[in-house]
Amino acid sequence: MTEPTLLRDQHYQYLKKGLRHLSDAYECLDASRPWLCYWILHSLELLEEPVPTAIASDVCKFLARCQSPTGGFAGGPCQAAHLAPTYAAVNALCIIGTQEAYNIIDREKLLSFLFSVKQPDGSFVMHIGGEVDVRSTYCAASVASLTNIMTPTLFQDTPTWIVSCQNWEGGLGGVPGLEAHGGYTFCGMAAMVILGKEHMLDLKSLLRWVASRQMRYEGGFQGRCNKLVDGCYSFWQAGLLPLLHRALFKGGDSTLSLQKWMFEQQALQEYILLCCQNPAGGLLDKPGKSRDFYHTCYCLSGLSVAQHFGNMDLHHELIVGREENRLAPSHPVYNICPEKVAQAIQHFHQLPVPVPAQKEGEAPNRLS
Ligand code: FPP
Ligand code: ZN
Repeated sequence: MTEPTLLRDQHYQYLKKGLRHLSDAYECLDASRPWLCYWILHSLELLEEPVPTAIASDVCKFLARCQSPTGGFAGGPCQAAHLAPTYAAVNALCIIGTQEAYNIIDREKLLSFLFSVKQPDGSFVMHIGGEVDVRSTYCAASVASLTNIMTPTLFQDTPTWIVSCQNWEGGLGGVPGLEAHGGYTFCGMAAMVILGKEHMLDLKSLLRWVASRQMRYEGGFQGRCNKLVDGCYSFWQAGLLPLLHRALFKGGDSTLSLQKWMFEQQALQEYILLCCQNPAGGLLDKPGKSRDFYHTCYCLSGLSVAQHFGNMDLHHELIVGREENRLAPSHPVYNICPEKVAQAIQHFHQLPVPVPAQKEGEAPNRLS
């Protein structure tokens, strides 16, 4: 029997082409273009494939065109700023990690954009006039912490609002009262870790919920109870385990394994390698579905989580198949490589935290 093999070269060719040319099938993602940059750049860094300098610079110039004159990034040039592409653009620029990339981010305006979407109850809308859900708290906390623009009031009441999204199942819904879902649960937990308030969540019931989302037969994860397995939850769900492990360890839990995360790392790797690869490159939700850059990014991110345990000091690896299947580790909070997180934090922490244009805590003027 042949060993499960990561189709490195095929994935590399697929990703490399996507940085320059997208088929008509991507027209529907015209308002998510910074996401395409992030999904492709992060997949390439996991594969340890460098991006040529000229292409990296072109990506920077494109993302600069997506930045709104009033702060934050939009899904494309001349569109309105939105927290999701802002997260994707900042992550993409931190992966590129050059001075050109860092200098694109207008931190003063980014902070005023974040204040403009902050709500009095601690939540955030995704864009001015848009919907509230827990994704926005993660996008805001991620970009604010990476670029060093956190102010004392920016996240006031946000942890309490996030806690209200955790329901009886143990996971988090998009807003209080909704069904628990892996995508939202990751966002809520990662935001709480950034804000240093993870212990306000019921971590034991969260652990129980996420561990029960790994499918017995397939080895991959489902997003919510009684739904089908999907390769992208290899990250949204399995990515919760490093966060939970760290939080429980910090809280002094002595029953934790020091050898592995609390899920079947081998079974997840088998699901990704055997069921989620397109032979021509790119990864997917489940057999029969088509490949796309979103699933390529999150299947590879989940594969990386399943291969690596611990941090720099305590690092074990469990690689299914040959050593060539090994991916680079990813930072469990930001989902970019840890060196890129460290480099960005080091760069932006030399700069002062901007002073918010409007008085902190004051309701934003929606018409301006
Ligand atoms: C359900 O889709 C999925 C959602 C409603 C949203 C999931 C959220 C994320 C993936 C997180 C996004 C993160 C950021 C940072 C913006 P479905 O009903 O098609 O799938 P399902 O059957 O698997 O639940
Ligand atoms: Zn999916």
